[in-house]
Amino acid sequence: MKKFFALLLTALFLLTAPAQAQTVTHIDAAADRAGESAEKFYATLPQATGDYKSRRRPILIEGAMNSETGTLVRALKNPVAYRELNWLFVAGTYKNYPVVVVRTEQGVANAAASTALAIRKFNPIAVINQGTAGGHDPALKIGDIIVGASTFDYTAVKTAYTPRGAGIDITQQKMRGTYAYDEATKNFQPRAEYRADPTLFNMAFAAANRNGSFNVVSGVIATGNAWLQGIDHIAFLHERYGSTCEEMETCAAASVCQTAGVPFVGIRILSDNININRDYDPDTGVTCQEFVLLVVEQYIDAIVNRGAAK
Ligand code: 5AD
Repeated sequence: MKKFFALLLTALFLLTAPAQAQTVTHIDAAADRAGESAEKFYATLPQATGDYKSRRRPILIEGAMNSETGTLVRALKNPVAYRELNWLFVAGTYKNYPVVVVRTEQGVANAAASTALAIRKFNPIAVINQGTAGGHDPALKIGDIIVGASTFDYTAVKTAYTPRGAGIDITQQKMRGTYAYDEATKNFQPRAEYRADPTLFNMAFAAANRNGSFNVVSGVIATGNAWLQGIDHIAFLHERYGSTCEEMETCAAASVCQTAGVPFVGIRILSDNININRDYDPDTGVTCQEFVLLVVEQYIDAIVNRGAAK
């Protein structure tokens, strides 16, 4: 009898449930985090057999983990999965414009390599690196979104000489920067920071103003392979370099885009802020993706559909 009712309930649910969820919920983030949902979902996608072809150059959106890419991938129409050296790319359309989502994996090496591969493979018109970040600004709350006016690698320094036994003082350092191609000198040159493409940057604020439900600020994104928890260390970076938040990919992707001559912006949501004793909240990754979709829509509306970009 129990079984019968269970079956009846399931049948009723299946009959009334929409064929495919239209909106993405934070439940997806939990499943994505567990790795299952996204992997299964990726496996259900048509797998690419040939080269990517598109009349218009796609917008490339990057996220490091399933919880930072799942919402984007599910938003694509006619998604096709590409695998290149084990990085995963999904190409489709959003608002009738070609969009590619790449799961970069965590850290600067993965971000740089997958960005370079994606540029070669998909020839994107613009790159948005997005995802979660830890707060360097004590005034910022979990869920606040930082549009990176600039990004820098806080590990790209030369430390002052100190003799054995003198102790460690991280404040004795000079920024060297990371190397990217420079059109003017036709050479790779060090840069202390990478600035956002002005159009992408402005589109992010246009999207924020149009929607009104996200708290969006301009800031400086500090990148390194580390996760800092020393309050004084964080305060030092905040004061010396004006860092708003820290994460592990943005500057690496920005430098590759600089070298390749592709417009770039980093958009990060605060998932944690040790200054205010808040631990990592992975659900923020979904909110960030929802905002980024608005930015993409704005970019398509303002630039691409009006023929300002080629
Ligand atoms: N420090 C470093 N990386 C962080 N991330 C989120 N919060 C932090 C933090 N406080 C992001 C990184 C990486 C993963 C650990 O989450 O970009 O992909």
